[in-house]
Amino acid sequence: EGTALLDRLGRPLTDLRISVTDRCNFRCSYCMPKEVFDKDYPYLPHGALLSFEEITRLARLFVAQGVHKIRLTGGEPLLRKNIERLIEQLAVLRTPDGQALDLTLTTNGSLLARKAQSLRDAGLQRVTVSLDGLDDTVFRRMNDVDFPVAQVLEGLEAARSVGLGPIKVNMVVKRGTNEGEILPMARRFRGSGVVLRFIEYMDVGATNGWRMDEVVPSAEVVQRLSEEFPLVPLHATAPGETAQRWGYAGPDGRHDPALGEVGVISSVTQAFCSDCTRARLSTEGRLYLCLFASQGHDLKPLLRERQASDAQIASAIAAIWQGRADRYSELRGLRAPDEAPASGARRVEMSYIGG
Ligand code: GTP
Ligand code: 5AD
Ligand code: SF4
Ligand code: SF4
Repeated sequence: EGTALLDRLGRPLTDLRISVTDRCNFRCSYCMPKEVFDKDYPYLPHGALLSFEEITRLARLFVAQGVHKIRLTGGEPLLRKNIERLIEQLAVLRTPDGQALDLTLTTNGSLLARKAQSLRDAGLQRVTVSLDGLDDTVFRRMNDVDFPVAQVLEGLEAARSVGLGPIKVNMVVKRGTNEGEILPMARRFRGSGVVLRFIEYMDVGATNGWRMDEVVPSAEVVQRLSEEFPLVPLHATAPGETAQRWGYAGPDGRHDPALGEVGVISSVTQAFCSDCTRARLSTEGRLYLCLFASQGHDLKPLLRERQASDAQIASAIAAIWQGRADRYSELRGLRAPDEAPASGARRVEMSYIGG
């Protein structure tokens, strides 16, 4: 990272997550609870969204400053009209040393069966699919719009068959709701080439009514898994990675690559802020330096009213990142488990800045 831009805690900016819509066709209670995200919810009007040209221009400037991983998120990114056109524009970006980006997308999988091929054709490399259980009743309750699990599984299969990969599956675990799905999910994806990751239910946003007693600590997930499948710890593949990796062991007790791996994302019980390299660009062009930030830095006026040059925007981005000291999860870990957040400001919703 020779030319990398460092924040106040010495963390480089390498990872940009771009939210392309604040809408979703699911209503997962941990993210967009129905009572809040109802038909009267003030979603962003179309004119407020960054255009694909604006997104690509910003992405290019981030890449010039060290970003080499771009993730499209939402809301549900596949609801954004013509998302393939945006992917085409992002797929041709190159890092300063000529490398292609790690270009990926997080989706609930509901439209994947229909779109896998066109996403692949547009230049997408891989996808991460959110899937909170295999039992249809449990899954329909988690998405809260009665969406059948079979359609998401079809989407996963389509993604695999068109060569989007390696595929990851993310499962948010909520105590009392889907913890019974931990083992069935592990059984299903062990040896399939799909990397399954269990995510601790986080206190993100201000609407999900988060409670510590609904968090299943990753240590407990690993304990339950290892009662059925011996696991061996694996090294991180990249600094600042969200997941701790565990390999399935073969009969000799060593990691068997054919059986694959699982991961746990422990942002509640074991914060990973110290090497967090992620910036988030909201649907309307605000730059957030932390998932738990209450305010972003608005880049849209630079693009629109002020007609700023590339150099001006690049230096604005640099100044914002260089001022960053955010480490929310670490700070929450220093407080008592059920203590209210230190800041009184309302935190931004995950559907707005992207998971
Ligand atoms: P890979 O490169 O595919 O491993 O991606 P990733 O783990 O960076 O991204 P992904 O979107 O799969 O993230 C998985 C989940 O981890 C998200 O949905 C969030 O729940 C959580 N997460 C991701 N980034 C952060 C972060 O910076 N802070 C916290 N607290 N949680 C995060
Ligand atoms: N806790 C943990 N993960 C969450 N996500 C959304 N809300 C939460 C939350 N409260 C993540 C999940 C989902 C992705 C789209 O966003 O990983 O798969
Ligand atoms: Fe939609 Fe994903 Fe949020 Fe569920 S977690 S409501 S699928 S954006
Ligand atoms: Fe990064 Fe904020 Fe998440 Fe910590 S809480 S890992 S600083 S996004």
